[in-house]
Amino acid sequence: MEQKEDLLKDIISHAKEYGFVFPSSDIYDGLAATYDYGQLGSELKNNIKQYWWKSMVQMNENIVGIDAAIFMHPTTWKASGHVDAFNDPLIDNKDSKKRYRADVLIEEHMEKIRQKINKEVEKASKKFAEAFDEAQFRATNPNVLRNAEKIKEIEDRMRTTLENNDLEGVKTLIEDLEIVCPISGSRNWTEVRQFNLMFSTELGSVAGDASTIYLRPETAQGIFVNFLNVQKSGRMKIPFGIAQIGKAFRNEIVARQFIFRMREFEQMEMQFFVRPGDEMKWYNHWKAARLAWHKALGLGDKYYREHDHIKLAHYANAASDIEFDFPMGFKELEGIHSRTDFDLKQHEQFSGKKLQYFDPELNQNYVPYVVETSVGLDRMFLAVMSASFKNEKLEDGSERAVLSLPAQLAPYKVAIMPLTKKDGLPEKATEILNDLRFDFNCQYDEKDSPGKRYRRQDAIGTPYCVMVDHQTLEDNTVTIRDRDTMLQERVAISELRAKIDEKVSWRNLLSK
Ligand code: GAP
Repeated sequence: MEQKEDLLKDIISHAKEYGFVFPSSDIYDGLAATYDYGQLGSELKNNIKQYWWKSMVQMNENIVGIDAAIFMHPTTWKASGHVDAFNDPLIDNKDSKKRYRADVLIEEHMEKIRQKINKEVEKASKKFAEAFDEAQFRATNPNVLRNAEKIKEIEDRMRTTLENNDLEGVKTLIEDLEIVCPISGSRNWTEVRQFNLMFSTELGSVAGDASTIYLRPETAQGIFVNFLNVQKSGRMKIPFGIAQIGKAFRNEIVARQFIFRMREFEQMEMQFFVRPGDEMKWYNHWKAARLAWHKALGLGDKYYREHDHIKLAHYANAASDIEFDFPMGFKELEGIHSRTDFDLKQHEQFSGKKLQYFDPELNQNYVPYVVETSVGLDRMFLAVMSASFKNEKLEDGSERAVLSLPAQLAPYKVAIMPLTKKDGLPEKATEILNDLRFDFNCQYDEKDSPGKRYRRQDAIGTPYCVMVDHQTLEDNTVTIRDRDTMLQERVAISELRAKIDEKVSWRNLLSK
């Protein structure tokens, strides 16, 4: 098994080598935490978007999609709370000059204690084998209990200090926990400061406060301000949802780990408008539905875990993350938030316009409550890449790099190859290509030996390779090779479309 640190490095270089992801403005040595998606990366990204859009919008009668502008009226961000409260608590280490998010330092410290507990449980599980009762062990073992109590204490202190914006308290907590800078190893910390994450720019040619606008830090507000437009024009009845895919921008201070944390990224968000009082029912519904959506990709259930928030965003009364086991460990992939009626009420207040719904069943007007699902497209991309990328040792001693992408997400579904460049084989292969490309994204490949061509397709995740050989000219059959099993079978050309479709059709994935 490849070491996890090496895995991220390998994925980054594989992504560059095969045209998935490049550092942005590479010829100028790149721009920190900014990346470009290449010719295969944009196909994979589009397929992830399609998976989300199809299952969210097209498979749900009561969810519709929009595409709002990135620039919004500046009051939007005053109303949403982002101007005043979209901050990260930052702390610098005076020796290494590195900047950290104070809450992340504390979270990481708690994670280390959690790992101690897990090791203790693992040890006991090995010792007692089948007789091991994990729940009982966790409830009674003194070391586990002591560490669990420590975590709880830290969580409580972190929540109280952050909720009260007690930055001195946050620093004291870091000092009390004896947290050291991972680079310098020292505890020489600055004060904790709040830093607003929104990028601002000027609208038009006149500078000044009145013309300052922000690059949206989330797509959600474009949905809130369009709530009534969509509800009225679409005659939507509560409960209903509005979905959107689009760019968001945050001036992340600690932007690193490849495309995991970027300053320009894409979100796939859905706001589900419900009756006040129904929000916890829908919150639980969407938590389960979103986890099932991720797991349906078949990357492996072990990659996912849920994490309920301690520190709630200024708009939420409940929030949970779906975390993914990235090469850097378990980290947030998607957030599910119960946002109450905070946003719509704020927009009512700041715009002076009513944002209410008349519920014919209750015969009353109300401001709906909102349950939000928000997944980072780039993080989905990294999750899919990192779970799919493998360096495999084959039986004959050779190695292959393979991306075992879910077939629906693969950039190309099939590569069509003539065995040689002569004897009419390229013409026959082109004929097949020209037919299949109406249904699937196909690649034509005639360069190098068949073995090399198979390896190339494995490395970019193409589920099938079709080889056109001399027998094809005689009986209209080809061989079709499966990326994962590497087995080849001979099939009639007339059966190709159905065979490929069986594997790559959206129906298979969406009906799971
Ligand atoms: N509208 C709610 C919202 O924006 P969030 O938890 O701040 O909530 C939602 O962000 C998702 O957006 C995250 O789960 C993550 O997948 C993605 N995301 C957030 N910041 C990101 C960044 N700097 N780079 C890449 N993805 C990011």
